[in-house]
Amino acid sequence: GQPLRLGVAGLGTVGAGLALLLRDNADLITARAGRPIVITAVAARDRTRDRGVDLGSCRWYDDAAGLATDPDVDVVVELIGGAEGKARELVEAALANSKPVVTANKALVAVHGEALGLLSEKQSTPLLYEAAVAGGIPAIKTVREGLAADRLLRIGGILNGTCNYILTAMRETGRDFADVLAEAQALGYAEADPSTDVDGVDAAHKLAILASLAFGRPVQFDSVHVEGIRQIGALDLSAAKALGYRIKLLGLARQAERGIEARVSPCLVPHTSPIAQVDGVFNAVIAEGAFVGRLMVEGRGAGAGPTASAVAADLIDLARGKPAPVWGVSAAELEPVRSRPISER
Ligand code: NDP
Ligand code: HSE
Repeated sequence: GQPLRLGVAGLGTVGAGLALLLRDNADLITARAGRPIVITAVAARDRTRDRGVDLGSCRWYDDAAGLATDPDVDVVVELIGGAEGKARELVEAALANSKPVVTANKALVAVHGEALGLLSEKQSTPLLYEAAVAGGIPAIKTVREGLAADRLLRIGGILNGTCNYILTAMRETGRDFADVLAEAQALGYAEADPSTDVDGVDAAHKLAILASLAFGRPVQFDSVHVEGIRQIGALDLSAAKALGYRIKLLGLARQAERGIEARVSPCLVPHTSPIAQVDGVFNAVIAEGAFVGRLMVEGRGAGAGPTASAVAADLIDLARGKPAPVWGVSAAELEPVRSRPISER
């Protein structure tokens, strides 16, 4: 079939990782997508930087917004980051111009997802964001498709790789917070401004997205209670250990009497529990549904390879021509859905 031609904005950890994945797995991806997926145009700030992969044949844009109107671009892939600025401008321009968008940008989806969902629907143009939550774990597909038939009561988990990496290294090796954070940045796990990670904001973005999907109504990012891990010290970690617990930064949302409660905070979890075993850059998504019961999916939550894998999965869905609606249902159906505990049925 005709190649699916990509315009990729952002060639950092995720953008360069995507280029490598599309190159190294080209045959497999072509077979599964039914046609080749190729990068035809790119945008970043620094033209001269070595990206570790040959992009010499691609058209270069100093202004990423140019990708939204390039006739040789079928899909815009937004890997710049940030809820505002160039990322938002590009995504809105692409959708307005009827170019499908794939993004890894949880800040953008958490803050503007409702409006973008309406724009996507109005334009009949898909917006996919599998990579925005929990890196390589197919978290969005799990909730939107895998659990589509059930009424979910709880959703959440370990949603920030940087924080879990820091807490694990501090606990296991007694290393200093700043030291381990610098390592997480060097490994490409952290956000451009790492306070977004360590203050819990990134996990809250992801929780707002998961909760919106799980409960079928938009959960505002600023309604999530947020605490980070800056105040956790060596003493807290060793005291928790002595008592048989581990400290994990958890994001949890549930249907409560008066609406959805969502919070991100450091929690004590029994060291024998499955979630306590999820260490390092790994994330875990946990869900509980009236019929499915409880489940947990674990995998790498950040880094070039896992995130590129999630971006490429969305691209394969687009290439096959069966992309899902932004919030799993038509925007008109995004209404409060009140859940009853299974015991009341
Ligand atoms: P990086 O900081 O590594 O890369 C950002 C890229 O965007 C760089 O190539 C940069 O250009 C480019 N860029 C920045 N501003 C502009 C602009 N105004 N116009 C054009 N290009 C611009 O970020 P990541 O790759 O880590 O993250 C990208 C997105 O993916 C973010 O939304 C992030 O939250 C998300 N994400 C990241 C994960 C990870 O593990 N890193 C995991 C899941 C999601 P230049 O290189 O020239 O400076
Ligand atoms: N900074 C994020 C994290 C990247 O550490 O989890 C993955 O979304």
